[in-house]
Amino acid sequence: LDNGLGLTPQMGWNSWNFYACNINESVIMDTAKAMVSNGMADAGYKYVNIDDCWAGGRYPNGTVYADPNNFPNGIKYVADYIHSLGLKIGIYTDAGTETCQKRVGSYGYEINDAQTYAEWGIDYVKEDWCYATLENPEQRYQIMANALNSTGRQIFFSLCDWGYLSPWTFGISVGNSWRTTPDIKDNWDSMLANLMAQAPISSFSGIGGWNDPDMLEVGNGGMSSIEYTSHFSLWSLLNAPLIAGCDLIDIDDETLQILTAPEVIAVNQDPLGVQGSLVKSFNGGLQQIWAKPMLDGSRAVVLFNTDTNPASIQLNWADIWLVPSQDAIVRDLWAQSNLGSYTSSFESTNEIPPHGCIMLSILPSNGNSSN
Ligand code: GLA
Repeated sequence: LDNGLGLTPQMGWNSWNFYACNINESVIMDTAKAMVSNGMADAGYKYVNIDDCWAGGRYPNGTVYADPNNFPNGIKYVADYIHSLGLKIGIYTDAGTETCQKRVGSYGYEINDAQTYAEWGIDYVKEDWCYATLENPEQRYQIMANALNSTGRQIFFSLCDWGYLSPWTFGISVGNSWRTTPDIKDNWDSMLANLMAQAPISSFSGIGGWNDPDMLEVGNGGMSSIEYTSHFSLWSLLNAPLIAGCDLIDIDDETLQILTAPEVIAVNQDPLGVQGSLVKSFNGGLQQIWAKPMLDGSRAVVLFNTDTNPASIQLNWADIWLVPSQDAIVRDLWAQSNLGSYTSSFESTNEIPPHGCIMLSILPSNGNSSN
């Protein structure tokens, strides 16, 4: 969407994956505070997004209001606080008559709601798809996109129809990101399924609008730290929104290390804006190479082992659009250290653990690549 936003994938936090409906004003405000004090804001996270269950209802004139039980001071109060920290605030609504948790939806109230959000100082709107399934998502989401645009406030627009009617085919003209899959769950199979669904649609995302394989589960406890590291590496390489979904108020060091890895985040935020794709798989997909071209001519690469046994993976320059005879500096982006200069291929001396990955930068020494 050409609204000046989404020039790189959005980074932030959303309440749903950890809190579901158990949200309130202090959870949101304390999370925002934590995002600044724990270094996530400095690492690039800026949106604090309230998901479902904030809406209380509508006044007789149609204007939406916050649930007085969990947001007694209203949303503008929370927005002002979040802005005072130098962060931005997002909110959730639904294109249908009700949200997935049966709060009021925006169907038929798009102009009114967009106005209200703008008055509150909202910077980001996620619009869900419950109770809307007889509608055409492109047309319905366009109504909200127009309503947001006519407020005059810059508001990031995140579509959430779970892939219904292939939103990647129209998403970039309507929104800044679009969900491509059912809801992620905090387990390996769900994460892997959402990942694999991105393989055929890499080419549809770009500057201004991103494929969204759903929010991060890193830190929620259902996967190992090796699995969360793979999850974060691949979401980064896919130019997926990096929307943390764990408890930030009581976050552990290991989770924080994953979520703030600077060279991994830099892959996601590369200004060239080309999404990574699955370039090769071995053994029926048990091992995979995902890669993306970077602005500086290097390639970011994830060597991914989905198997339950350790494995090694050989990366050939030809797999990642490089001339085989080229010398290239290979760098480990998690370790933040160079592994050396290689010609035509690279194979790690250490095996990749089950469900683990190696994330690399391959920088041709002459700075040029074949395309
Ligand atoms: C849907 C969305 C989720 C979340 C919930 C809230 O399932 O896909 O991301 O917003 O609704 O009810």
